[in-house]
Amino acid sequence: MISTGIRSRFLILFLLVCALFTILLLGAYQAPSGHLPSILAGKHGDHGKPNEAMLTGHAIAPKLGNATAKAELGRAAWKVLHTTFARFPEKPTDDEKEALRSFVHLFQRLYPCGECAEHFGKVLAKYPPQVSSRSAAAMWGCYVHNIVNQRLKKDEFNCENIGDAYDCGCGDDEPKKKQA
Ligand SMILES: Cc1cc2nc3c(=O)[nH]c(=O)nc-3n(C[C@H](O)[C@H](O)[C@H](O)COP(=O)(O)OP(=O)(O)OC[C@H]3O[C@@H](n4cnc5c(N)ncnc54)[C@H](O)[C@@H]3O)c2cc1C
Ligand SMILES: *[C@@H]1O[C@H](CO)[C@@H](O)[C@H](O)[C@H]1NC(C)=O
Repeated sequence: MISTGIRSRFLILFLLVCALFTILLLGAYQAPSGHLPSILAGKHGDHGKPNEAMLTGHAIAPKLGNATAKAELGRAAWKVLHTTFARFPEKPTDDEKEALRSFVHLFQRLYPCGECAEHFGKVLAKYPPQVSSRSAAAMWGCYVHNIVNQRLKKDEFNCENIGDAYDCGCGDDEPKKKQA
């Protein structure tokens, strides 16, 4: 009787240990997606693409009251944007197209002049970034810059000259293997 009692107690203990291991293993298996912040886990849907809500959410920066700072920022920002388009591949891969599209949307959301970002968000909603090629991206960039020019009562820029205007002096495109 005594030995049967001890044996059944061992059996119960053994089963408890098994149950505990099962719980721990299951817990460890679920941890990666369950415990990551949503920006790393849930918000990236298929193949790590940021989802549309993240690309088109509210403008993040506060209002930038200082007109001098606003104009300086604008000139620098347009320079970065147009130069980015001018050096985008003429035949981009799907990954490169998606990178440019996401970049433009996040550039808008995070643009440090909040009221500018809000206006530009409406422009992007109406005229989504064109990312099929360098020339498409450059023409699109020129077009949306002209929409901002018009709202600010500035002269319209002739987009036929966009290629020359953003020859950044970076030299010809080098073959990939020559780049450091
Ligand atoms: C996304 C975004 C939104 C903005 N929203 C606002 C806003 O709401 N309110 C505000 O006050 N300011 C805004 N700005 C700033 C504004 O657009 C100007 O940058 C700023 O007023 C300075 O103007 P600028 O006359 O020096 O020339 P910019 O418009 O800064 O242009 C710089 C240079 O780019 C060239 N250029 C002009 N038009 C084009 C074109 N269509 N394509 C290619 N090149 C061109 C010209 O050589 C020009 O001198 C915004 C800037 C950006 C990037
Ligand atoms: C406005 O911005 C300009 C350029 O950044 C700066 O020189 C100036 O001091 C600012 N003015 C005020 C009142 O902050």
